[in-house]
Amino acid sequence: MRGCPAVTGLEKGIAVDVKQHSSQPLEIYDRHIFSQSKSYRAHAVNHLAYGVSSTPRASQLPFPVVIDHAEGVHVTDVDGNTYLDYSLGYGPLLLGHTPKPVLEAVQRELSKGLRTASIHRGEARLADLIAELVPSGAQSAFVSSGSEAIQLALRVARAATERNAIAKFRANYHGWFDNLHIANSIGNDGAATIGQDPDASQSVELFDWGTLEGLSERLDTRFAAVIVEPAAINAGCFAPPEGFLQVLRDITRRLGIVLIFDEVITGFRLALGGAQQRYGVTPDLSVLGKALGAGLPIGAVSGQREVMQVIASGRLLHRGTFNGNPVSLGAGISCLETLKAEQATLYPRIDRIGNAIAAHVNAEARAHGTPVFAQNVGPCVQLFAGVTQMDGMADLAKVDRSLILCLTSKLLQQGIYTLPRGLMYVSSVHSDGDLAFTKQAISTAIAHFAQGLEANR
Ligand SMILES: Cc1ncc(COP(=O)(O)O)c(C=O)c1O
Repeated sequence: MRGCPAVTGLEKGIAVDVKQHSSQPLEIYDRHIFSQSKSYRAHAVNHLAYGVSSTPRASQLPFPVVIDHAEGVHVTDVDGNTYLDYSLGYGPLLLGHTPKPVLEAVQRELSKGLRTASIHRGEARLADLIAELVPSGAQSAFVSSGSEAIQLALRVARAATERNAIAKFRANYHGWFDNLHIANSIGNDGAATIGQDPDASQSVELFDWGTLEGLSERLDTRFAAVIVEPAAINAGCFAPPEGFLQVLRDITRRLGIVLIFDEVITGFRLALGGAQQRYGVTPDLSVLGKALGAGLPIGAVSGQREVMQVIASGRLLHRGTFNGNPVSLGAGISCLETLKAEQATLYPRIDRIGNAIAAHVNAEARAHGTPVFAQNVGPCVQLFAGVTQMDGMADLAKVDRSLILCLTSKLLQQGIYTLPRGLMYVSSVHSDGDLAFTKQAISTAIAHFAQGLEANR
């Protein structure tokens, strides 16, 4: 990989016992750090296609580690290495890996039988909580993942408006179904993978996120919906520019277009009421997932009554064997009750830790004169490599994605587990001790990264 320092230390073996050394200098042990992960992978690829259940998981460097167990905010791999986790299972684990109330709720539900697909009291309870906490959430409909919820939201919008066109923003991600799995990155407006039906996205028109240019000229009464990540976390943690969401709200209201906020990541994370609460703009429909289930599979479309009327009246078919399963909903209820009880301290703390991580990365990168940059929206932090600043989404073209994998591999070697693509999520159980450990690990990782770049010149 270009510019990525050789991983000789790793081949020899470096393991960090994060729990024991939380605020002390990192301990480095001489053992074969990934031998069990490696033999797992060698076996897994025989019958498990690509050896993983979601393609990006295989991209982790220096090697995709296999997790054995987790506790609080730590994960331990099959070789016995413990990491401080900032991947949070790709986002859902806002309360960490083992939140007591959620585990108890799950066990309570399981003790009543699996009851999948039966009507149960948890459904209305979770919908009530969403209505209380999410400004646009008067009525909800549950599914089992964020991707499914996105599809349901589009169907609701089309039914409510009797229109077809959908406006999507470049570099916003809305799940893996063909119609919206396009223009996921700057510079590629097409399908994100081979095998997609090119006709599926015919009614989707692309816009540039964060700019008002072209919006009022191109949006018209052909559009059923504008769908947007209100803070563009998938693109690299971009906060919405001043006025952007409000203008979207004004235009869509004027033209009778359904405004959909995809809050699968931002929901319950940027504020208890999500990005819509943080930025003070209420959409017609919100798509929720990830943190809503605290780690169990769930998705929801939560919207204002006028729009949700198409489901509420029974006219629109909303189907799915696993929709509203009691175990996921039990976890969701307990998660929202916990967030509600802890909101006064929880949200300021996760924001503060997110800010501190980004600031520390940037200070260290400057000190080493190395092309690394971090930006965050509250508890979501994106690490970039190949650039020293980011002035908007156009700058994404300058980012070196293979160098990000290299940087995150350096962090992994220091006991920090991020998403391989450089996204970090702060949970409610990351402590100030964890922050101190993280800063130290970042300093070492950036020093190693800078040395490696220098050596490769
Ligand atoms: C903003 C956003 N929307 C939708 C999805 C799809 O959710 P899921 O992976 O649960 O299908 C994701 C997943 O990462 C997401 O980040």
